[in-house]
Amino acid sequence: MTNIITEYPVKTVDGFELLPEGTELTVETLLELSSRSPSEFYEILPLMDYGNVRQDSLIFIKYPPYNIVFSDLEQNQDILEVLESAKLTLPVLESLAYFKQNDFQTYRHSLMVFLLSVLLAKILLPDHKNLSTNTIISVSHDIGKICVPLEILKKSTPLTKSEHKYIQHHAVAGYVLLSYYFKDHENFIAKIARDHHERKDKSGYPRGIEQSDKIIEIIAVADIYDALIMPRLYRPIVYDNRAALEEITQMAERGTIGWDVLKALIAQNRMDKPSYHEISISKERRGVKPKGNSWGKICDD
Ligand SMILES: [Fe+2]
Ligand SMILES: [Fe+2]
Repeated sequence: MTNIITEYPVKTVDGFELLPEGTELTVETLLELSSRSPSEFYEILPLMDYGNVRQDSLIFIKYPPYNIVFSDLEQNQDILEVLESAKLTLPVLESLAYFKQNDFQTYRHSLMVFLLSVLLAKILLPDHKNLSTNTIISVSHDIGKICVPLEILKKSTPLTKSEHKYIQHHAVAGYVLLSYYFKDHENFIAKIARDHHERKDKSGYPRGIEQSDKIIEIIAVADIYDALIMPRLYRPIVYDNRAALEEITQMAERGTIGWDVLKALIAQNRMDKPSYHEISISKERRGVKPKGNSWGKICDD
């Protein structure tokens, strides 16, 4: 497998360049990068106690359709236990503060992808021993977006090809940043950042490899769902919930994502919370896509 090459520079939130553009991510480069990190001096703090993360999360789950997805209070207690155990190093937490101040939708999205992926992982991987430790901390999956200029990140019209490429840089940038902060390029949270846009049918990026990690697949589905149902600057009118689930159903039909993650998401969208094994997928398309929606649309430079 060929190594990844950085398409743009990777910088920390305070503008310090970790790697220039065009760097090949060999094991030697990554080890050297880790050795430069002063992470033993970073404080490790509970995520939920940082800033207003706890209060904001409780507000965000009240927005439809999350008010239905998170309507089982007993289940919410289980999830809360996982959330409360999540700890992160200070610079990673500071990236959340950066997004909250500069790109609120990415802040809200980061928290909701975390909450939803914990919920889906609890359902799909009930015996997974490490859910309460490090494995599902997806709140930093988009941390690499601190390396994307805000005028691209917050653009309200369709992206050009080169802007789209710059946005895609966030996966590799996130991997580099988290490898640096954790002093470990094998760290699973860093791998989440690198691989959350890889797909089961190899149609994703940055490497176009087959997504075979169940936890990262769960995070990818939470990521896609949240992107569809919540407003963005370039799409102030969102997909209705049914259209979003239908869009993800089409991805399962194409083999891009797995059926069981989709079924778990559909089950959570029902008030009675059936087992995901009992969900049968309707072929009928009734959802309403927003008019003039520019999600995924790219224009020439
Ligand atoms: Fe992403
Ligand atoms: Fe995301």
